[in-house]
Amino acid sequence: MKKNIVIAIDGYSSCGKSTLAKALAQKLNYIYIDSGAMYRAVTLFFLRQGIDLSSHAAISNALQHIDIDFHSRDYQSHVLLNGEEVSEEIRQMPVSQKVSEIAAIKEVRQCMVKQQQKMGKQKNIVMDGRDIGTTVFPDAYLKLFMTADPKTRAERRYKELQAKGENVSLEAVFDNLAHRDFQDTTREVSPLVRATDAVILDNTNLNQDEQLAFTMAYLPVI
Ligand code: CDP
Repeated sequence: MKKNIVIAIDGYSSCGKSTLAKALAQKLNYIYIDSGAMYRAVTLFFLRQGIDLSSHAAISNALQHIDIDFHSRDYQSHVLLNGEEVSEEIRQMPVSQKVSEIAAIKEVRQCMVKQQQKMGKQKNIVMDGRDIGTTVFPDAYLKLFMTADPKTRAERRYKELQAKGENVSLEAVFDNLAHRDFQDTTREVSPLVRATDAVILDNTNLNQDEQLAFTMAYLPVI
């Protein structure tokens, strides 16, 4: 049986992983999967339900009641949490402020990784996240590790949130990215770390076309 191709993109918060992943998926006609959106959807569910994060039983029970699905419309990927469209809400600050704490929980990671691995068995995919090349798909065809200057990353995310009408300061965005990077790189389970065979892509001074061209140079035979 032909093995599906997986392209894994990991890296720090808001360094353009999803922009590159979407462009790659479109170019290659692969499915794009935003693993961060899955952790964000779980976080939204936990916040709404007031799940006690100190209770393993409460967490495991809550995870059984979460169904996350993706679908494409207007060339954008949409996230459904138990059938409800939550694409906008999961990108807002209340979720951003809590997501790294919840993504560090072992039970949450086990549950998400299992679903992600299943998706990679069904189709050719581009998946972005923090542990895709290290834990989810250690045999990925191509692994990228993305980074960019922290100030540039904060400015990009700030502009994105402003465009959506969210009332948030540049400082708050900068602090959130720094805090999440700290939590993501220092957690016990699957911390954010470059896989030894991942290609580093620093896009501080690259535009979207340039980062796509950089990546395509590593995909000559697809
Ligand atoms: O878009 P941005 O870079 O801000 O973040 P995201 O990809 O939406 O991921 C949100 C958060 O989910 C991250 O800060 C991590 O805490 C967590 N995450 C993770 O732990 N593992 C993944 N594979 C993807 C995201």
